[in-house]
Amino acid sequence: MRRKLVVANWKMHGSLAQNQQLLDSFKAHLANLKHVDVAICVPYPYLHQAQNSLSGTKIAWGAQNVGKYPVGAYTGEVAASMLKDFGATYVILGHSERSTAYCESAENVAAKFVTAKNAGLTPILCVGETLQEREAGVMEHVVSEQLDPILALHGAGIFKNAVISYEPIWAIGTGLSATPEQAQSMHEFIRGKLARLDAEAADSVRIIYGGSVNPSNASKLTVMQDIDGGLIGRCSLNAEDFEKICIAAEVAASH
Ligand code: PGA
Repeated sequence: MRRKLVVANWKMHGSLAQNQQLLDSFKAHLANLKHVDVAICVPYPYLHQAQNSLSGTKIAWGAQNVGKYPVGAYTGEVAASMLKDFGATYVILGHSERSTAYCESAENVAAKFVTAKNAGLTPILCVGETLQEREAGVMEHVVSEQLDPILALHGAGIFKNAVISYEPIWAIGTGLSATPEQAQSMHEFIRGKLARLDAEAADSVRIIYGGSVNPSNASKLTVMQDIDGGLIGRCSLNAEDFEKICIAAEVAASH
């Protein structure tokens, strides 16, 4: 049985003081969840702060990107082993804000996915279509193509115990979430694609949903059969909102 997972994606937000308030609140309010894993993905400079605050709690932490090579002359990059040095468990990969603003290709993301896995990190691979692609009815084709470079490199087995986040680009930061039915349908499609290649990997991969998740829609989304949790942007910067989302997932998981 897959455990639900709720991940905070702080993006490029925060300061030592603001982060501490959020982390202290999360520790106080999310320590007793039984059915949900919680992780906070912070900007690189705050990994140390996350490690200091969250060590010894059930809340995990991670980063929002990683270099594709293990070590070397790559100015500005951060290696997977460095994330491990700071106790990171998760790393978000291929977020659409990186592919649109930094031209990150699916091939690059595939290489990072493998690097992260080899280093013992749990990759959270983001996939999703634009509004035009949804309107044209090609969203499954688009998402399928985003998975293909990883499948071509290492086969479906690499998704065992990994995380995929379905994030329709039109839903990110817009306040316009996918409906539970739209998200469920895509999650089912993704799991089905993997199941045809490797049933065990398809069963263990957690497919979470991201895109304007908030305290009012979190229950309806996380209760769906193939929605294993959420990747939370804006609402993870507000302690009360993020905690309500985690608690909604906890209730959904206990049903
Ligand atoms: P949002 O962001 O919750 O602000 O829509 C989600 C994400 O980009 O991961």
